[in-house]
Amino acid sequence: MEQETKIKKDSFLTYLVTGLILSGLIFVADTQIALGVASGMLYVVLVILGLMARNRPFILYAAVLGSVLNAVGFLVSPSGGEWGAVVANRLLAVFTIWMTAVLCLIVLRAEESQRSDNDKLEEKIKDRTGRVQETNELLNAEIAHSKLIKSIAVASNETRAIGETLRFCIRQVCEFAGWPLGHLYLTAENPSEGLVPTPFWYVEEPGQFDTFQEITRETPLDAGVGLPGRVLVSGEPAWIIDVTKDANFPRAQLAQDIGIKAGFAFPILIGRRVVGVMEFFSPKAVEPDQQVLDIMAQIGTQLGRVLERKQAHGESERTQDQLRKLYHRLEQVREEERTRTAREVHDHLGQVLTTIKLELSLLRNKLSHDNPVIQKAAEQLIEMSDDAIQSVKKISMDLRPPILDDLGIAEAIVWQVKEFTSRTGIKCKFEDELDDFELDQERATTLFRIFQETLTNIVRHAEATEVCVKLSHGDETVSLKVQDNGCGILPSQVASLRSLGLLGMRERAMAWGGNVLINGTPNSGTTVNINIQKG
Ligand SMILES: Nc1ncnc2c1ncn2[C@@H]1O[C@H](COP(=O)(O)OP(=O)(O)O)[C@@H](O)[C@H]1O
Ligand SMILES: [Mg+2]
Repeated sequence: MEQETKIKKDSFLTYLVTGLILSGLIFVADTQIALGVASGMLYVVLVILGLMARNRPFILYAAVLGSVLNAVGFLVSPSGGEWGAVVANRLLAVFTIWMTAVLCLIVLRAEESQRSDNDKLEEKIKDRTGRVQETNELLNAEIAHSKLIKSIAVASNETRAIGETLRFCIRQVCEFAGWPLGHLYLTAENPSEGLVPTPFWYVEEPGQFDTFQEITRETPLDAGVGLPGRVLVSGEPAWIIDVTKDANFPRAQLAQDIGIKAGFAFPILIGRRVVGVMEFFSPKAVEPDQQVLDIMAQIGTQLGRVLERKQAHGESERTQDQLRKLYHRLEQVREEERTRTAREVHDHLGQVLTTIKLELSLLRNKLSHDNPVIQKAAEQLIEMSDDAIQSVKKISMDLRPPILDDLGIAEAIVWQVKEFTSRTGIKCKFEDELDDFELDQERATTLFRIFQETLTNIVRHAEATEVCVKLSHGDETVSLKVQDNGCGILPSQVASLRSLGLLGMRERAMAWGGNVLINGTPNSGTTVNINIQKG
């Protein structure tokens, strides 16, 4: 290989000069040597030089020159030897020279044909490589499209906020198309009012398009107006090579230099309804790219589904919110009703009963002591009215302990804990770490009702012998922790939709931006943590 390269490098001239010198030397030698010696054979070297020079005429001329010099040598070389042998010698030399020449020519041709085959092969390889590259580029583009579509599909299915999803999609499209600016126009609530700008942007280099962004923020667009307006009407993607030269691009007329030239936009569709238009801009004039537009049409439909789903989600959240408010309101009304009834029962019924008891006592004193039957009946009536007075007190306490309104949550819990222990025999410890903090009445009521519900659950389900209650507060929340040493609630019971009591507790806490965390350990007990915002 190295030698071949060297031969290639040697110039034709070198071979020629070498050939001429050699032919001279051979001729001189030939003329000095006796006729019997086959010195003419040496002219073969000239032919071989022609082969080395890769030159067909060189080979032929070398053969001719060799033959001529061989003939001249025959004539001028010193006499000697047998004539017949000498002639035969000379003819043999000519024969060898020409045979070698023919062989060299054959070799040369074979080489040339090989070279041309090589060239053809190389061309074919080049062609194939080119095609492979093209396919590769197409494949890469295809991969980029699928990546874009996939990333948008993934983002659409994630539970991010809608604004975040939209911003992400705008950015993805910008990065895919290599355009530095993207924005979303949404269809106005009343579609006849056209499109309204949104705060959903992607800007590659913040600050680069401030003027344009400012103008856009102030520019709602009617149907058919500007690039997005046209897309709103047609429902198809659209492209403008240079917005500054477009008669229907109002934002370009509002400032001397808006910093953008090319723009494309595509609709976000729910069915056939355009619910928004995404627009993208470049500071350079760019020719339309059908492929990009086709992909954007696909993305538009996909984003439509996102908006549709999010709208439905928003709708369900709104309904849930309304239900929650309704529940809260019902609880409030119930509480008001209880307070009113408790007061009426306590004040009015209690007073009537006390009066009856008093009158009965007076009556009994006035009755003759001789009639023990009447005396006994009067005693019984007094006792009964006493019982009734106690019942009224208990009923009104159960309905709403006045202590809650008069002395606050901590005292109400102390009272409830005592009542609980005396009623059930379950030991109950209370730690009050509220210090001087005073909880407002409505929040106190919520906390107290949830607490009562946890005590009811302990009696009904826990099989506990001891309960610890702790009331505390942090920077933003008031917390009540109720811990029993019973059988322990199961996670499935905590999560069950049938646990309506627990659900009610959570809903009550949520009305004050709080929560109820419930944890159970089998045979070790249950902890209920109630947290509500201080407000
Ligand atoms: N302190 C507790 N210890 C053990 N299990 C409990 C406790 N509190 C609640 N549970 C379990 O959780 C379930 C749901 O409670 P809840 O929603 O209040 O419904 P209910 O009391 O009407 O059965 C109960 O049926 C019970 O099995
Ligand atoms: Mg219950």
